[in-house]
Amino acid sequence: MRVSLIAGNWKMNTTVAEAVTLVSEMRLGLDEIDNVDKVLCPPFISLAAVRELIKGSSIKLGAQNLYFEEQGAYTGEISPLMLADLCQFVIIGHSERRQYFNETGKIINKKVQAALRVGLKPILCIGESLKENEAGKTGEVVTEQLRSSLAGINELDGLIVAYEPVWAIGTGRAATGKQANETIGLIRHNITELYDKEIARDLRILYGGSVTSANAAEFISQPEIDGALVGGASLKAKEFLSIVTQTSAMRGHFSHID
Ligand code: PGA
Repeated sequence: MRVSLIAGNWKMNTTVAEAVTLVSEMRLGLDEIDNVDKVLCPPFISLAAVRELIKGSSIKLGAQNLYFEEQGAYTGEISPLMLADLCQFVIIGHSERRQYFNETGKIINKKVQAALRVGLKPILCIGESLKENEAGKTGEVVTEQLRSSLAGINELDGLIVAYEPVWAIGTGRAATGKQANETIGLIRHNITELYDKEIARDLRILYGGSVTSANAAEFISQPEIDGALVGGASLKAKEFLSIVTQTSAMRGHFSHID
């Protein structure tokens, strides 16, 4: 059975002091929930402080990006080795990185490889734009993104995929549970084709895009969806806690595995 995972992507929000306050507000509540993986992804500069705060708890830590080289003259970049020391997860290929920082499939592929090499668990984001969605190209786009991101990778150890339709990110316009479930089912089918049935069965695939405490249950209750990557709502302790609590409560009611 796949363990549900709720990850909070804080994006470029919070100073170190604000990050500390936010974690302090949700630490106890999150720690009490033991049947869901909870991952906080603060900005790089807050990783060390948050790490200290969650020490000894069941909360896990992730970064929002990395550079694929291990060290050297790459001013301003953060390497997989640096992160492996601090956290367990790393978001890769977020649509904001693709869109604003020109990250291509090739770059994302290198980043996924670099993360896996040092034992970090990549949360690989894929998803179609509004234009692609309206043209009926969702399946085609996510299939291409998945295949290019995973090119040449034989072991998916710890990899997590997040399906995030670009039109649903930060817009308040989430996909429906049914839509997301369908696309995530297709992603899983692709993993079966690229790898095998067992790997596809065990791979955790999240939905992301305007998830809040009000709509989380719609996604979590879908058989293909193993959790959520939460942006805006992860910056409010109560909201994030509610999403995790609802996920935890639903875990007892169904099994993802057929
Ligand atoms: P959102 O962001 O929840 O604010 O839409 C999700 C994400 O970008 O990961």
